[in-house]
Amino acid sequence: MSRIVSFIPQYVCGLACAVYLFTLGIVSGRNRGLIARICRHFGFFRQRELAPPPDSRALELPQAAIGDIGPADEPIRILEPIGRGGNVALEEIVAIARLLKAHAPKTVFEIGTFDGRTTLNMAANLPEDAQVYTLDLPRDQAASAAFDISDADAAFVEKDVSGARFLNTPYAARIQQLYGDSATFDFSPWEGAVDFVFVDGAHTYEYVMSDTERALKLLRGGRGVIVWHDYDKRTGQDVPAALHELRERRPEFADIRHIFGTSLVFKVF
Ligand SMILES: C[S@@+](CC[C@H](N)C(=O)[O-])C[C@H]1O[C@@H](n2cnc3c(N)ncnc32)[C@H](O)[C@@H]1O
Repeated sequence: MSRIVSFIPQYVCGLACAVYLFTLGIVSGRNRGLIARICRHFGFFRQRELAPPPDSRALELPQAAIGDIGPADEPIRILEPIGRGGNVALEEIVAIARLLKAHAPKTVFEIGTFDGRTTLNMAANLPEDAQVYTLDLPRDQAASAAFDISDADAAFVEKDVSGARFLNTPYAARIQQLYGDSATFDFSPWEGAVDFVFVDGAHTYEYVMSDTERALKLLRGGRGVIVWHDYDKRTGQDVPAALHELRERRPEFADIRHIFGTSLVFKVF
């Protein structure tokens, strides 16, 4: 009985928030994302069937061609060309490698390692003295993650080893594996010291927004490149809505670009 009594303040607060959420609150994309998750919690509108929010259909990011994002005559190296579910597509590896050639970052930070295929390819296309840091959520921390982890994301959290594809390669020396939840991980040692960030961790609205804020703080003197994966209305969960909202509301994201033929979006700061 005492547990019920002590829950009453949370009940009243939750009720007030729910009234706001379903009335004035729907103007915010973040709140619409929360309503969509409530539906999923009760078994409705599973991820694949979830219609994109109206603003995702109305807005499209401006595009850039793969041919225009990197130097024309710089060779790139492709390792582990055969991908699997959870990896980026081969043309996305090409696009990332071309961006790396164009910007020659000294320090790269990836959010979302999975099997390390992109990590490996980034390391292989960087100057020899560059360093790649890659952060992954260990499966025993998924249940305590700061925000909801969708079923689609949970499938890629579930694995024995993070970064299996770069372990025991000559590039492993340039890569440091980090572990934690990107929403609560202590990024402070890398803040202001990173030139290129690849955001490909969890794909719910809260994580894309939180990871983007972290990425911005990582950039060296506010300059560098941020790349997001899964700008795809069918499979990218909340990534399109989150990126559209950033472009709509934040002047610094006005010239964010979708790389044509891929689900990559990038912004040079
Ligand atoms: C789609 S996979 C990344 C694919 C990888 N970047 C590649 O290109 O092959 C997503 C990864 O993000 C990790 N992840 C999911 N939620 C995370 C979180 N909150 N913090 C850090 N990593 C997370 C998962 O464990 C998974 O390894």
